[in-house]
Amino acid sequence: MADHSIAQRIAALRREIRHHDHLYYTKDRPEISDAEYDRLFRELVDLETAHPDLITADSPTQRVGAPPLSELAKVSHEKPMLSLDSIVDQEDVRAFDQRMKRELETDQPFYTAEPKFDGLSVELVYDQGRFVRGATRGDGMIGEDVTVNLRTIRALPLQLHAEADPPAHLVVRGEVYMRLDEFQSLNRRMTERGEEGFANPRNAAAGSLRQLDSRITASRPLTVTCYDIMALAGPNPATHWDELESLAAWGLPVPEHRQRCRSIDEVLRFHQTTDALRDNLPFEIDGIVVKLDRRDWQDQLGSKSRSPRWAIAYKFAPRKEITVIQDIAVSVGRTGTLTPLALLKPVEVGGVTISRATLHNADEVARKDVRVGDTVKVERAGDVIPAIAERVPVPGEERQAPFVMPDHCPVCGSAVAREGAYFYCTGQTVCVAQLKGAIEHFASKSALNIDGLGKKTVAQLVDAGMVNDLADLYSLTKEQLLTLEGFADRSATLLMESIERSKAVSLERLLMGLGIRQVGQHIARVLAKHFRTLSRLMEATQDELLQVREIGPEISASLASFFSEARNREVIERLVERGLTVNPPAAETHPGGRSLAGKTFVFTGGLAGYSRDQAKELVERHGGQVSSSVSKKTGYVVAGTDPGSKLDQAQKLGVQILTEAEFTALVTPG
Ligand code: IVH
Repeated sequence: MADHSIAQRIAALRREIRHHDHLYYTKDRPEISDAEYDRLFRELVDLETAHPDLITADSPTQRVGAPPLSELAKVSHEKPMLSLDSIVDQEDVRAFDQRMKRELETDQPFYTAEPKFDGLSVELVYDQGRFVRGATRGDGMIGEDVTVNLRTIRALPLQLHAEADPPAHLVVRGEVYMRLDEFQSLNRRMTERGEEGFANPRNAAAGSLRQLDSRITASRPLTVTCYDIMALAGPNPATHWDELESLAAWGLPVPEHRQRCRSIDEVLRFHQTTDALRDNLPFEIDGIVVKLDRRDWQDQLGSKSRSPRWAIAYKFAPRKEITVIQDIAVSVGRTGTLTPLALLKPVEVGGVTISRATLHNADEVARKDVRVGDTVKVERAGDVIPAIAERVPVPGEERQAPFVMPDHCPVCGSAVAREGAYFYCTGQTVCVAQLKGAIEHFASKSALNIDGLGKKTVAQLVDAGMVNDLADLYSLTKEQLLTLEGFADRSATLLMESIERSKAVSLERLLMGLGIRQVGQHIARVLAKHFRTLSRLMEATQDELLQVREIGPEISASLASFFSEARNREVIERLVERGLTVNPPAAETHPGGRSLAGKTFVFTGGLAGYSRDQAKELVERHGGQVSSSVSKKTGYVVAGTDPGSKLDQAQKLGVQILTEAEFTALVTPG
C-alpha cells in the first residue's frame, strides 16, 4: 500500500471505530458484533505499529499510553464548579418554583428535569473539537488533572463530531460513574485477588479515576454523562434543553431520560416516575436535578457563593429493604469501644448487597428493640454505613430474648466496663483488637505518618508476636520483616526507613498518635502549644490542665488516667529510649514579645481597666499564662478591688503581688 493510501485507511478505520464506540458506549445501540469491532481495532493497531509516525493522540488506540504519574497535578477551573442546593420535600420544590416566579416576574418559568447521577463531577475541555484536558471538581475552584485517565473512558469522545460543527473551545461538565453490574463484578474480581472492594459505585468511580497509573483506570469500567456547558466559544444555546441537544450532536453522552416541564406539577410527576424507574436503571441516581430551562433566565438569577439559584437537586428518600437479623455480633474498636453489629440475611439495597449494619450502641439496640431473628428494614443513604431503620413486627412471631452486651470482651476476654451508652473492653493493649487499632492509629498520616505500615502489615506484626506495644515498632529489624508474607528486600527496606524517619516527631503528632481518649488532632495541638514538652504535660495537675482553654473536665480526666497508667508511662519511656525525639511546636509568635514567658498570673478581685478575658489575653500575648489558683509556682497575683482568699494565699506562699497599675506597667511596652 502506498503511504497516502495507508494514511487514508488509518483515517477511515479511526472514523469507523469512533462511530461504533459512540453507538456502543453512548447510544447503547451497537450495530456490529464484538468480533467485527475487534477486527477493525486490530487492523488499526497493526497499521499504526508498522507506521508509528502516523499515530495521533486522538486515535482510538491511544486511550492508554501515558506513563504513570507521581502525583495528580492541580488545575484551576475555567469557571468555578458550583454545587447544588438539595431538598427532599415537595413543599421545598414548590417554594423553589414560587421563588423563580417571583424573581423572574413570570407565571411560566419552564424547567428541564434530569436524573441526578451519583458519581463524581468532572470538567472536560475540548479545543478545536479535540479533548485536551479534564479535571475533577476538587474544591470547586481547583481540581486534579485527570486527563490521561479520562481518555481511557470509551464513552468519552476524544474528538467531537466534525459534521456537527463543534465550537473552537468548549468546557463541559459531566459525571463519571460506574454501572451497578460493572461495579459488582469489579468488586468480585478485587476480593478474589485479596483486595478490599469499594463500598459503593461512587467510591469505585472516584477511586478509579483518581489513579496515578492510567492503566489501572483503563481496567476499570467507567462511563460518563454530560449535563452542563460551562463555557463555549460561539453562540450559546438558548435553553438547557438545547444545550443537551447540542452536546449530544457533538457526540457527547447526555442524560437519556430527561423531560421539559411546563409546570412544577410536571416536575413532581417526573420525580415520581424517575423514582419508580430507579430500581430498573443500570446505574445509581440519587434524585433529579431541576433546572430553569432558559439560559438568559439562569443568568438573570445568577449564583450564590456555592450554588446556582436557578437549579436544585430534588433527592429521593433513602432506599429501604426488608431482611432478617441472623445474629448480632460485637466488634471491638481502636479505643476498645464495643459496637453491636447486625449480621443480616444478605439483601440488595439499590443494587448493593448488604450483609451487615451497625447498631451503634446498646441504647440504640434497646430503643429500636431489635433482636436476633427479627425482621427489619435496612436503609442506605449515599455514603452512610447501612443502618437498621426500624423493626417490622410480624404478627404471631415468637421473638428471641433481647440483646445484652457481653460482660467480657469477645476478642481478649477482659472485663467490659460501661460509660453511659458505651461499653468498652478494659484490656487495652492486652486486647489484640485494641493493640492493632492503636498501632494503626499511631502510624497513621496525621500521627507518626509511618508510610507502609497499614492495616494488613500491622495485623501481620501483631499476629507474629513481633509487636506487643508501640515501642516495639522501634526495635523491629529488617530480617524480621523479611519473614513476613509479602515482604521483599525493597519493601522491608522502605518500611524500616519510614519507621526511622518517624523518630523525629512533633509533640502534637505524638500526642495524637498515643490514642488518648478525647485527644484528637485539635486538642493535641492545643496541648502541645501550651505545655511544649511531654514531661511538662505529664506532670500537669488536673487544675493546671483545666486552665488551658478548650480543655474541660472530660479531657483532663482522660489525660490524667492515661498518664497515671504505669503501662503507658513505660511505653513512653521505651519510645524515648529507642530514639524517639519529641520536638516542641515551632516558637509561637507573641505579638507582644516573650517578656512574660514561663510566668503564671492569678487574678483576684475586680479590675477597673480590663475584663478578665482582656487581662488574660494580654498575659498570653506576652507569652505568659493565666491560672485560677495560687501555688508556689505562681509568678504574680494581681489584686484588684475586693480581692478574695487568693490574696491571703499569695501572702502565705510568698508570691509577688501586683496592683492593677503595676500589672499595666508590665504589659505595656516601653
Ligand atoms: S448540574 C451549576 N446536573 O450533583 C450546575 N449536577 O450536588 C452544576 N450531579 O457536584 C451541577 N447529576 O456532581 C448537575 N444532572 C446533573 C447532575 C449533577 C449529578 C452532581 C454534580 C454536583 C452534584 C451537586
